[in-house]
Amino acid sequence: MNTLKKMNEQINHELGSSYIYLSMAAYLTSKNLKGMAAWMHKQANEEREHAMKFFEYLNERGQAVELLAIEKPKNEWKTPLELFEDALKHEKKISALISAIMETAIIEKDYPSIAILQWFVTEQVEEEANASEIVEKLKMIGEHKGALLMIDKELGARQ
Ligand SMILES: [Fe+2]
Ligand SMILES: [Fe+2]
Repeated sequence: MNTLKKMNEQINHELGSSYIYLSMAAYLTSKNLKGMAAWMHKQANEEREHAMKFFEYLNERGQAVELLAIEKPKNEWKTPLELFEDALKHEKKISALISAIMETAIIEKDYPSIAILQWFVTEQVEEEANASEIVEKLKMIGEHKGALLMIDKELGARQ
């Protein structure tokens, strides 16, 4: 079924997301923004969990998982704002992919997959909101270094 095939590809996109966020964490660490780096590490771990949700679901459906190649992620940004704008753009892309799988699942009347995908639809609303909030805050502070350090501290407190 096409839904399951697309979910197999989505494992790759989720692991790819994890890899992108890990690269962002490395960059933020190199800029001494340790709170933001910690936030990104947590994000990278979450993306791996997303991949594993699809991985385990495909196993339950008796569908063999085939892992695909992951692209080299970007590793340089001009500012933390540019980095978080990239993260937001990426989450929007992921949301579109989840919607496309959902559309296929609906066409195929694959109700178990629709149930799983519903969780991801809701999760993506939160993912976009989180990234968007950080982008807006970084835009607000502009060049203010003190405020940047405050945001860094705040993001470091993420559970
Ligand atoms: Fe994800
Ligand atoms: Fe995400």
